[in-house]
Order: sequence, then structure tokens, then C-alpha cells
Amino acid sequence: MKRIGVLTSGGDSSGMNAAIRAVVRSGIEMGFEVYGFIQGYVGVLDSHYKVMESSSVSGIINRGGTILKSARCEEFKTDRGQASGYAALKELGIDGLVVIGGDGSLRGANALYELGMQVVGVPATIDNDVFGTDMAIGVDTCLNTITWAIDTIKDTASSHERAFIIEVMGRESGYLAIMSSIACGAEAAIVPEFPYDLEKIGTKLSERFKEGKTDSIIIVAEGASSAYNIQRKLRNHIGFETRVSVLGHIQRGGVTSVFDRNLASRMGVEAVTALKDGRSGVMIGLSKNKFVEVPFSDVMENKRGIEPKLYDLARILGVIL
Ligand code: ADP
Ligand code: F6P
Repeated sequence: MKRIGVLTSGGDSSGMNAAIRAVVRSGIEMGFEVYGFIQGYVGVLDSHYKVMESSSVSGIINRGGTILKSARCEEFKTDRGQASGYAALKELGIDGLVVIGGDGSLRGANALYELGMQVVGVPATIDNDVFGTDMAIGVDTCLNTITWAIDTIKDTASSHERAFIIEVMGRESGYLAIMSSIACGAEAAIVPEFPYDLEKIGTKLSERFKEGKTDSIIIVAEGASSAYNIQRKLRNHIGFETRVSVLGHIQRGGVTSVFDRNLASRMGVEAVTALKDGRSGVMIGLSKNKFVEVPFSDVMENKRGIEPKLYDLARILGVIL
């Protein structure tokens, strides 16, 4: 194996740059030429790449986003698109590929692997919905941002005796909502994986209002409901004046946390090491504090839910679910 490629795909997450840096530097160290594809699978289909030097990845370990750009590429979901992508990579003499992205991007990686390319995946998505890894790159930075934002909002909530309904990202995953509800001491969390009863939530919030609680934070994952919808249903029943805050894309970027820098650096090097040693069709995962190689088939076939223990933890600590 002489030449490897690297790409970032799907929703960007903070730490993708640290992962690119690790792939490029370890790839060069192991004697590979490293091509960085621009805009994920779009760059593969268009053979749009740049040859990466060690200096190409200087000064990026702390930066959110991705210097290789990311994209969603519908064409790559088709058999034809995947076959063209495979042919384009072969034409460029690419022997191995590192795909950095979320669940969808890893499905694309698996398609290339099934066509015969040597591919290793690195999980990177704020949603933390990829099976086979305790943490994906970007989750920790994102949770720090959400926690900062909610701590800030809490100042206003208590000054004005308001309930804030805060919408966090997670199209199909409530991981960010549950974890931030624990970290912020929220009153309630609403997630797509768990049935919720707004009447029960409303009654409990109004009890807390009557007991003299001066503020209230209700975190809702976008995949469960819109925060405005929850506000409409709760506002006349809970005592508190209500406001909505949709955190949106401030959750995805930002200076990469120490945890994500280290996770991405280690996963990037593990991915290139696997390729060098002739292992592919796997995703690098973090399991019980150890780096593991999880077959793509396991990643594809299983769903990463939220551990029931986390719900219990949130409930025990006072979060209404
Ligand atoms: P993420 O990787 O963050 O989950 P998406 O689900 O949007 O983000 O997927 C990113 C890209 O990965 C898609 O735009 C597409 O190019 C590719 N992809 C997604 N699903 C598949 C699939 N089933 N087969 C092949 N490629 C896919
Ligand atoms: O998959 C990551 C994610 O941030 C989801 O949580 C969110 O629903 C989606 O991407 C938003 O995508 P876009 O940036 O395309 O609006």
C-alpha cells in the first residue's frame, strides 16, 4: 500500500481537524502518500483532492469544522454513485481510505469496502448515535457548548422567574439532551427514544413553581419535538413565564475540547495503523477506555441507543422524563 485517502463527510463536528491531522501525520510517518478529498464523497466522485503534507495540517488541532470541508452527497447513496466513486479512487491509485464521519458516512465507507477498497472508519458526529463506540469525535465539545449556553440562559431564567424550553440537536438521538440535562441540572428532558407525557411534566413543573422554584430548564431534542411546540402546550399550565431558545448550529463548531483532540488524534493514528497492517472494513471505536476495531457489519446492523442507566441517573438527579 502506497497511497491512502482521507475525507470528512456528513455534519461536521469539532475534532474532525484533529483526526485529519493524525491521519496525515501518521500516514506520512508510515511511508504513505496521503490525499485529502474535498467535501467528502463529492470530492471522491469529482477526483477533487489535495496532496497532504505534514505542514498542511499545522495549526488546526484546536479548530472546529474541517479543513477538507464536508458535504452530504445524495449520489453516493446509489449503486451507480458508489461504483463511480470506487472507480475514481482506483484511477487515482488510492489503496486505502480513512472515512471520518457519522452513521451515514460510515454506510458509504462500507459500500466502498464491499466493492473492494480498503477502508477504515472513524466515528465523528455530535449525535453520538454510532454503534460500536462509547464516544464519537465532537460529542464532548458539543456538550461543553450546550452546557455553557444553558448556564448562561439560567442566569436570565432565575432573574425573571422563567421556564426556558431549550432545543438541542439530535435528529434521531436524545444523547445530547439527556447528557446536558444531567450536566446542567435541568428540570426536564424530552428525547425521541423515550415516550414523554407532557401533562405529567406540566404538573410537576407547576408543583415546583408553587414550591418556590424560581427558574426552570426543559431540554428538548429536536428529534422529539420542536421547542415551540412544547412551549405552546406547557405555557398556560406551569406558572412560569416561558421562553424558547433553539441552540442550533452553535452546537457543532467551536474550539475543540481536550477530550476530543485526544480522541481524534488517537483514532486517526489507529485507523492508519489498521490500514498499514492490512485490516479494513472496520471502524475504530472507543470501548471501556480501549480502542477497538468494530466490523462495519456490526456498525451497520446495530443501533446505538441510550443506556437505560443514563435515564435512571437523570431521573434520580431530579430530571423529569
Ligand atoms: P452522517 O455521516 O453525519 O450521519 P449523513 O447521514 O447525512 O451524515 O450522511 C453523510 C453522507 O454519507 C451522505 O450524504 C451520503 O453521501 C453518505 N451516505 C449516507 N447514507 C448512505 C448509504 N446508505 N449508502 C451510501 N452512502 C451513504
Ligand atoms: O447529524 C448531525 C446534526 O447536527 C444533527 O444533530 C442535526 O439534525 C443535523 O446534523 C443538522 O444538519 P444540517 O447542518 O444539515 O442542518
